[in-house]
Amino acid sequence: MNMWGRKMITRNSKIKEAFNTPVGHDVISKILLQANIKDKYVKGGIIGNLKLKTLAKLSGGKVSEGFLNTFIDLLNRDDSNEAPKDGEISHKWWKEAVFYQIYPRSFNDANGDGIGDLRGIIEKLDYIKDLGVDAIWLSPIYDSPNDDNGYDIRDYRKIMTEFGTMEDFDELLKGIHDRGMRLIMDLVVNHTSDEHPWFQEALKNPDSPYRKYYLFREGDGTTPPNNWKSFFSGSAWNYYDEQKVWALHLFSKKQMDLNWECEEMRKDVIDMIKFWLSKGVDGFRMDVINYISKDEGLPDGDKAIGELMGFTGVEHYFYGPKLHDYFKEIRKEAFDPFEAFSVGETPGIGLNMARKVTGEERKELDMVFSFDHLETPGHTKFEDYKYDLDYLKKYLDNWTVNYGNNCWQAFFYNNHDNPRMISKIDTDPRRRFYLGSMLAVLQFTVKGTPFVFQGDEMGLTNYPFKSMDQITDVEAKNYYKELLDMGKTPEEAFKIIISGTREHTRMMLPWKPGVQVIDPTMTEAYKELIRIRKENPLLVYGDYELLMGDKGRYTYARFDKDTSYVIDCNLTTGEIPALDVPDGRLMYSNYEEPYAEVLKAYEGRIWVV
Ligand code: NOJ
Repeated sequence: MNMWGRKMITRNSKIKEAFNTPVGHDVISKILLQANIKDKYVKGGIIGNLKLKTLAKLSGGKVSEGFLNTFIDLLNRDDSNEAPKDGEISHKWWKEAVFYQIYPRSFNDANGDGIGDLRGIIEKLDYIKDLGVDAIWLSPIYDSPNDDNGYDIRDYRKIMTEFGTMEDFDELLKGIHDRGMRLIMDLVVNHTSDEHPWFQEALKNPDSPYRKYYLFREGDGTTPPNNWKSFFSGSAWNYYDEQKVWALHLFSKKQMDLNWECEEMRKDVIDMIKFWLSKGVDGFRMDVINYISKDEGLPDGDKAIGELMGFTGVEHYFYGPKLHDYFKEIRKEAFDPFEAFSVGETPGIGLNMARKVTGEERKELDMVFSFDHLETPGHTKFEDYKYDLDYLKKYLDNWTVNYGNNCWQAFFYNNHDNPRMISKIDTDPRRRFYLGSMLAVLQFTVKGTPFVFQGDEMGLTNYPFKSMDQITDVEAKNYYKELLDMGKTPEEAFKIIISGTREHTRMMLPWKPGVQVIDPTMTEAYKELIRIRKENPLLVYGDYELLMGDKGRYTYARFDKDTSYVIDCNLTTGEIPALDVPDGRLMYSNYEEPYAEVLKAYEGRIWVV
């Protein structure tokens, strides 16, 4: 059967047959990438022809029988094995829009208490509009005890006091709409705060209807119900001594996972979504939304996969059995009646799975964020290494060519969960502008909706932290403790923390010069590139072709039958021959005086022919 043909996968199927299913292709590619193995070994040859059942033996027990069964189940699940459909590109506002992410705590502080707030955002709406932005994504602003800066919600319908009031919110929304922009909010419904009344009620009273809203397991407190690891260190289970129960938290001990099997809970979530949409909000970014469906019985995770991916258990919830059903339900019940837009944060989901989530005819999500480009394969975010721009090129080329016309992707370099991209690639301040603006050339000319993170347009890099006292984030603090427990010295542990902490992107924007300063030339470059994207819809909807992709360069065209844009980028710090574009008009270069023959360090050009 040919690529993506439907066929049941069994223990007797060959590895290459599993690789030839859409979901199998994603899972195996991810494992190969992490383990730094080339995919040619599984496509054919000796490994590809081996039967799946031999994997457990061959790996010396590293890949368990349990994992094999989970994997085979995943491949055979409903339509996992079926070819994603393709179609025509439809025109939508969110494909043409440039989004801007605001992390409210550190965007702009209007009342001088040191914490960003809604009035601070209102003050800067003209600035955002002037950049050319069409839509704002606001990280959580709801009432929260702030164990994870608002990603632990205590009351979904109340504004966090530090950020302002509901009146401030209404004024903000109006200010955004009055300027012709749109607003999407953060939807955090994989978990709530442990201080949410649902959880409090559920914990207190085993007979409460809210007990079913979470994942509780009874026990004596000695061994957690399974071996899943939390993303913020330690076991994913918290034990409540008094009540003699465990509760699942994939994130911090104060972020309790909701039980999506529970219909009443889903109904409450849908009502809450409608509450915000009725206010006029234009859509949502959906936090770790691919984690909401968990395998029945919450079975143990495979140890080898856990080690490779860093988190034991992920295979049981990163693409769970009812995920598509839940997406369809939310869309039908809440989003569609308001024509609202949705973008899912979906870590670990590969290209083919993303096609299933975003295929237009499937009516699930509009877009997803993929994260596979954030680190060079084989590296993790807490490693101090030099990011490989040739990998970024391969990633962009692969998604652009293979994602299909009826799916749409979001594309970003930075968000509030990662250190700054520029710092991962090149820390030399003399090259900062050229690197940052070349990245922007790519971001505004590839297929996919650009999401700018606050400060990208200022050319911000990582913050020069001096000690752990400056680090407030739960992920970094817990990991620091874990590193010390593993025997690292405080100096070694701190070095690891500053390589990967998300605190870098959570520092207050330097509206007034301090440790960090704004690079106004970068802001001008962003404005110009955003303008170019918006004035030339071919950069949104046009076809794509890789023209030259040899090491150190990325040259491609976006085109239709009449017009071509040629994007010519130097991914290195040396000079490389520039592409000669006869009859072309140079629309943009990030160098003031570009030479005809060479592309200078990180030069990015846009030609129109
Ligand atoms: C993803 C969010 O972006 C991150 O900031 C948060 O810590 C986790 N989800 C948990 O909500």
